[in-house]
Amino acid sequence: MTAERARIGIIGFGYIGSYVYEQVTTRPELGMDVAFVYNRTPGRISAVPEEVILEDLGDFASRQADLIVELAHPDISRKYGVEFLRTADYMPMSLTVFADAELDAQLRGAAESSGTCIYIPHGAIVGLEALEEGRQMWEEVSIVMKKPTRSLDFANSPQFDPQAIDSETVLFEGSTRDICPLFPRNVNSHAAVALGGIGFDDTRSVLVADPSLETSIIEVEARGGGVEIKVRRENPMVGVSGVFTLVACLASIGRACAPGSGLRIC
Ligand SMILES: NC(=O)c1ccc[n+]([C@@H]2O[C@H](COP(=O)([O-])OP(=O)(O)OC[C@H]3O[C@@H](n4cnc5c(N)ncnc54)[C@H](O)[C@@H]3O)[C@@H](O)[C@H]2O)c1
Repeated sequence: MTAERARIGIIGFGYIGSYVYEQVTTRPELGMDVAFVYNRTPGRISAVPEEVILEDLGDFASRQADLIVELAHPDISRKYGVEFLRTADYMPMSLTVFADAELDAQLRGAAESSGTCIYIPHGAIVGLEALEEGRQMWEEVSIVMKKPTRSLDFANSPQFDPQAIDSETVLFEGSTRDICPLFPRNVNSHAAVALGGIGFDDTRSVLVADPSLETSIIEVEARGGGVEIKVRRENPMVGVSGVFTLVACLASIGRACAPGSGLRIC
């Protein structure tokens, strides 16, 4: 990214998107301007100046964003990711989409051939850069996530009845590749661990629903070559996201404004 003040395109105006918009527009010291805001439901962004609103996401190139940030749904990357990367850097927050190996290759290919960058925000994963630094060393990497049942979206996993979960219940234990399609809106942090570390097939994911929890608890462990890392993070939930995710996401957007290309952890 070369512009003095980075132009940011914001997709999604929910919990995280509205926070990022508010911060970028009220804190000039962040060094960013809003190139556009797109939301599927236009009514939600009625407070955004008309000239900033992008009605058709297919018209994104007309706004000349330096960095496009997806804060909406994995479908955005599926539909527009390759196109975005032809002209702009791209930071998807909905990382579960990278479990689709074909799409992952297409996105990386588009970034490489265009000299643009895919930024992987660390989100809920404290120490993601350490997982990346030790990538050659790790024999095992795992993520165990415990969430309040109310924070889980069961739309892609009808085999579970959330009403019937009355105590701590293990919903999944297996590869990160396999959990992503089951809970695409809830296990983005698992995908971040896989992307930063040893990949979707070799990373072990565990998801636990607990109706008595008010917070999301994430425990990440990496072991190999005599090195051991254990990180635990607990965070109150709003909808599908944790409150600390807001500041983490904003900080990642700030880091993404530094020059670079390829796929980068930030
Ligand atoms: N990487 C991480 O660690 C991490 C952490 C938290 C959330 N997330 C992901 O970030 C995204 C945003 O989170 P949030 O808490 O702000 O969600 P949210 O539900 O509060 O807001 C999402 C917004 O996107 C819009 N939207 C939904 N589907 C859409 C679609 N297909 N096309 C266009 N717009 C669409 C909704 O109308 C809403 O305004 C979610 O996908 C969430 O799973 C990632």
